[in-house]
Amino acid sequence: MSERPTVYLTRDIPQAGRDALEDHCEVVVWPDAVEPSHETLIERVADLEADGLFCTVADTVDATVMDASESLRAIGTMSVGYDHIDLEAARAREITVGHTPGVLAETTADLGWALLMAGARRTVEAHTRVRDGDWESWGPTVLLGRDIHEATLGVVGLGRIGTEFAKRAAGFDMDVVYSHTSPNEAAERELAEYGIDATYCSLEDVLERSDFVSLHVPLLEDTHHLLGEDELRRMDDEAILVNTARGEIVDTDALVQALESGWIRHAALDVSNPEPLPADHQLLDHAPESLTISPHIGSASMATRSEMAVMTAENILAGLRGSELPHSAFD
Ligand code: DGY
Repeated sequence: MSERPTVYLTRDIPQAGRDALEDHCEVVVWPDAVEPSHETLIERVADLEADGLFCTVADTVDATVMDASESLRAIGTMSVGYDHIDLEAARAREITVGHTPGVLAETTADLGWALLMAGARRTVEAHTRVRDGDWESWGPTVLLGRDIHEATLGVVGLGRIGTEFAKRAAGFDMDVVYSHTSPNEAAERELAEYGIDATYCSLEDVLERSDFVSLHVPLLEDTHHLLGEDELRRMDDEAILVNTARGEIVDTDALVQALESGWIRHAALDVSNPEPLPADHQLLDHAPESLTISPHIGSASMATRSEMAVMTAENILAGLRGSELPHSAFD
């Protein structure tokens, strides 16, 4: 690695990640809470002649960013997903790309459950009522929700996060069905240790059989709009859809229609398309009764974000040194 390579950070990050980088590099941080625009990102990378780029899911890192600095040779995203990075362009330019798999699976699964439970037991709606002074009495038919225990949980994509999500069903005595590219026997064995007998089926079966459907697939060409009108219509009209993966996996127009027409009971989302979701977006007309939403905070626990920042820094440092990345997006 050259004396002190320059690494550009598109956002301030937990201190542990900065410390790891600052030991070896000049670190320049974009100072705002909102990421630089694409044009500004290109300008900053160019002006700094950056050797490394530390980015997040909010940055689009395409060939124009990569070509902004001839020295750029390592990109690290503080995320497991890397659909915002043009991997082929990076590969063609021999720029390494690191990401943060594994570390956020449990934290993201935890948030998935927070959303599922909020949707099932209408906690946001309930909170809003109390806050607005509308708690009139104990009512036999007030704010009735769905039981979670003994219901059927459908997991779409039984990878690391999907498996963690499914594991958490154990305390609720749920039946678990899942779809995946093929049966994931290792995950099934892991779940069996928690007393969960996960049944592999087609996506269609998962949608038809489940009371709760949770999405855990990466965003790829094949998974873009994996759930459109046909799929949403297949779901039970009392079902709840949870999405902590990527907004683009669901066709937003079809989802708006599903909530409007009552094809499903509720959508509990941590991700949306677009992101950020504008305050006047049609989806929000359905909150809180049929929509619970959070702003892409699946991995947002203090411990996990700190670990993600360090992993990202380590990926960048390895790329700058020319050594093997601990977690390469090319693997
Ligand atoms: C990821 O890691 O891909 C999440 O979406 C952001 O934490």
